[in-house]
Amino acid sequence: MLTPFKEILNTAKNGGYAVGAFNCLSLENVMGVIQAAEELRSPVILQLAEVQFPYSPLEKMAGLFLEAAQKATVPVAVHLDHGQSFETCARAIKLGFNSVMFDGAALPFNENVAITRQVVQMAKAVNVDVEAELGKVGDTGEGGGEGTGSADTADVFTDVEESARFLELTCVDALAIAIGNLHGKYVATPRLNIQRLKEIAHRNNIPLVLHGGTGTSEEDFKSCVHNGIAKINVATALQIAITNKIQQYLATASKPNYIDMKWKMIEATKEAVISHMLLFESDGKA
Ligand code: 13P
Repeated sequence: MLTPFKEILNTAKNGGYAVGAFNCLSLENVMGVIQAAEELRSPVILQLAEVQFPYSPLEKMAGLFLEAAQKATVPVAVHLDHGQSFETCARAIKLGFNSVMFDGAALPFNENVAITRQVVQMAKAVNVDVEAELGKVGDTGEGGGEGTGSADTADVFTDVEESARFLELTCVDALAIAIGNLHGKYVATPRLNIQRLKEIAHRNNIPLVLHGGTGTSEEDFKSCVHNGIAKINVATALQIAITNKIQQYLATASKPNYIDMKWKMIEATKEAVISHMLLFESDGKA
């Protein structure tokens, strides 16, 4: 069932687990994610980032996401990931997305606050929830490229006092933070700054979001889940799982065909989502 983002995240925060937000670029991704969520009885978030629009257009994906969410037997939110402008957030809201992220992390603090506030004002008028980002989540350059910085910016952690000021000024529903996380496929497993996460979570009573889920160690995932992260974004891991599955299929199938490939894509998505949901401890929560 299509369920408010804020409700899904606040329930996760209070329950001490995190909900996976999976970037879905195709019908196969959406089917695999929903099958995984229903099998594990887990809430889930379907999301699409603005950088993904060229090959997975927002207007074409919206109907797919919304129908899947409405028909699902578990709570599902439909979320715009990394909206780059007020206008993109408005487009997603008009299409029925029930939450949007405005990513102003690359902007100076005051500009990030100003545009985030405008998005919140618009979204709240129609009961849509908002995620914002503070601090720079970099990009390894190997993956979807949702990040706003380069790998060099990984040490620009979210500042604790600035996060409190930002939340007071914007009244967003969830905040994405930078604690050493990067988007894409890591060259080496990073170590997240869990101490900084604890300080931000202690200072602010709001669900926190970890971007760049792919490649994070199990230990760091667990520390995040137990210390205030209520939403974890995963994109590249699904793409890797599908690529590996198709490579294996093509290497072994006697008569490779597209229909079987579609089934493999659904299966690979589902398997990758299940393994993340188990780590995030969201199974059995729906
Ligand atoms: P990964 O590609 O590293 O999983 O990051 C996904 C993400 O944060 C999308 O916003």
